[in-house]
This record gives sequence, structure tokens and C-alpha cells, in this order.
Amino acid sequence: MSSAKLDISLERELTALAKEGREKSEERVIQGYIPPKGTKGPRYKLLGSDNEFLRLNSNSYLSLSNHPKLIEAADEATQKFGVGPGAVRFIDGTFIHHKRLEKRIADFLGKPAAKIFNSAYTANCGLALSISDKRTHWIGDQLNHNSIIRAMRISNIPKENKGIFKHNDMADLERCLAEVGPEIERVVVIFDGIFSMRGDHAPIDRIIEICTRYDDRFTDGVITVVDDSHGMGAYGDTGRGTQDFCGAVPDIIVGTFGKAFGVNGGFIAGSRVLVESIRQKADTYIYTNPLSVADCAAAVTALDICDSDEGLALLHHLKERTAQFRQGLDSLGLESIPGPHPVVPLMVRDTDRTHTLVRYLYDHGVLVVGLTFPVVPKGDETIRFQINAAHTRSDIDWVIELLEKFK
Ligand SMILES: Cc1ncc(COP(=O)(O)O)c(C=O)c1O
Repeated sequence: MSSAKLDISLERELTALAKEGREKSEERVIQGYIPPKGTKGPRYKLLGSDNEFLRLNSNSYLSLSNHPKLIEAADEATQKFGVGPGAVRFIDGTFIHHKRLEKRIADFLGKPAAKIFNSAYTANCGLALSISDKRTHWIGDQLNHNSIIRAMRISNIPKENKGIFKHNDMADLERCLAEVGPEIERVVVIFDGIFSMRGDHAPIDRIIEICTRYDDRFTDGVITVVDDSHGMGAYGDTGRGTQDFCGAVPDIIVGTFGKAFGVNGGFIAGSRVLVESIRQKADTYIYTNPLSVADCAAAVTALDICDSDEGLALLHHLKERTAQFRQGLDSLGLESIPGPHPVVPLMVRDTDRTHTLVRYLYDHGVLVVGLTFPVVPKGDETIRFQINAAHTRSDIDWVIELLEKFK
């Protein structure tokens, strides 16, 4: 036996992906970290290049990954308890660090309980497996993250128990709710808090207001779920994300420790019964090893920092640098989608120009992400810039100067 026949088939599929322009390019490899120095924020060395790179494509919005306190917490936990849990949670793979992180994130969000996962991706899938059956109807924003789309696909519902509303279109959300059949007992309305390719946010206050109006129609009501992976830690006056910004809190909050908090892992926060249901029913929680104690200890420390003066100062700096970058784009007459989130899209609206600009920035030591057809429709070609709290005023000025020279 060999996999030769399978390989031939897979090659054919890969060639088709490439032809459609959907293949992922070769992964770049970071092989060096250069700490901030003087007026320069951190730089990175890539395998195969002598250049030093500024990362404007990292989700680490508060730049906590290299924070000495997180490293110390991870180190201490590892020295005491080792590097891996050795088992899944329900077979004695639960360490005090897992419980501490669950309590800390629930408290941070003002929810009664929380469950942690290896990622927000597996958290969304676990939620779907825990709260869904044939009499559940799911409604989601058209631009929801892939993990939510996947979660809806594995949620044990018939195809027709699904509605998609146009991006942030509240009239269309209402249409989806009005169309739900009388046999349905439970409706789940799920949406990204921050839309990661655009930096805009879901109007959570309006979503909750609309869902509340439909709540009485269903035995189990209309449950609102935000996945605020890009908002948590980076948005709102206290860094509690999009619900902080909108002043309205959904029933269930999904998020990640792998972006603003600088570590890894995901979570679901909600009622105690919900969290116990997840523990009993979410396969992506039950049958897989949990996060390491190092990840948990570092994530608790990240949350402690967010709640301190230092955290508020980081958030303030992040807002200032984001505003500086946005003003820079405006002064060059470049188009973006307005908003205060550190995801700042530059609407290039042309595939060749997007490729050329991404390459130009790379050649000058700046890492960004370009989105071109067919990943986005023709005319919507974009470069996504992501600001973080380690960027300095002069880093941002330098990137704006580069963009000016490119014009
Ligand atoms: C809305 C949303 N959910 C989930 C994820 C995945 O997060 P994680 O890396 O923790 O799985 C992302 C990442 O880009 C995201 O934008």
C-alpha cells in the first residue's frame, strides 16, 4: 500500500486551487526577535532575509507576548508543573491553572462562568455541539469568521434552520428572525464583535434590542452570541471589547487569548448551566488535551495587566497610534473604513496594485496582509494594517512616509 494514488488526486486539487488564485503563499518563518530600542518598536528577522521587519500584520494588539511578567508566569508554572497536561481535562488533565483562568476570564467579563478551549476556533465549534439540535435555528452575519461558519455547519441542524443577514444590516437580521418557523424552539444569533478584515464592529446594542423583541416567540428564546476575538482586550474604554464599546452585553461571549492578550487559547463565557453543558457535550473540549499551564498562567497575567494602570496606558497608546495611522492615510487621500479599531484596512481596489504595494512594503521591511480577488470581490482589494501597542510614533510616521513615496 502507498498513498501514491491519493497524492495524485490531491495534486490535482492543489493545482485547481492555485488556478483559482486561492492557494496560500509559502509561509514566512520568523527566526529572530529584536526588542524595542530608542524610538523603534520591536523588529523581526525572517528566514532567508537580511532585513529587519516591522509587523503590521500581528493580532497581538497590546503587544503582551514578550512582556516580562507573562514570560515569568509561564516560566514559573512550567518549572513547577511541566510543559504538558498529560491527559484531557476529565481524566485528571485539569490543573489549578485551568480553573484560575476560567474564573479570571468570567470575572473579567462579568459572567457567572467560563470554559477555556485550545482556541476560539474550537470554542465556536464546541458551543455549536453543546447548544444545538434539530429544533434550533442559527442566524449569522454574512461576514462572520470561518470558525463560526464551520460551527454552524456542524451544529446538528437541518440546512433550512439557518439564516444569514447582510453585514451589519439590522433590517435584514429582523427579516431572518421573522422567517423562523413555528416548530423552532431555540434561536441562536451569532456575530463577530470586530470584523477582522475590516475593523468595523457589530452594533451589539441594536442586535440585542431586536432579538429581545423576538424572544417570547420561542420556548428557549433568542440567544445572542458574540465572538469578540479581535475586540477583546483591544476595544472599548476598559478593553472589554465590543460589548464595552456598545454598552450592551450578549448572552454568550466567545473570545481568544491569542490576540490582544498575547498568548493562546479560546473561551466561552456565560451562565453556569451553559458552561456545564459545554463541559458535558462539547467534543472539541472533552476529547483533546487542554492548554498548557504556561499558557494559562500567562493568560491570567495578561488579564491582570489589562485591569491595571499599565493596561489602560497600553490601550491608550494603542488608540493614539491607531488614530495617528488613520490620520496619516487621510492626509495622503487614501481610502479606509472609518472606526477606532487597530485593524485599519487600506482600500486599494485593484489586484495588481495591491500585490505591488504589499511587495514594496516588504522590500522596505514592513509586513502586511493583502487581500485580492478571488478572496475578496473585484474592486474590494484591500491591504490590512494592524497597529499594536509596541508601535512607536516614529514607526507609524515611517510607514506613512513609505506610503507617500509609493503614491
Ligand atoms: C472572529 C474570530 N474567531 C475566531 C478566530 C480564531 O481564533 P483562535 O486563533 O483563537 O482560534 C479568529 C481569528 O482570526 C477570529 O477573527
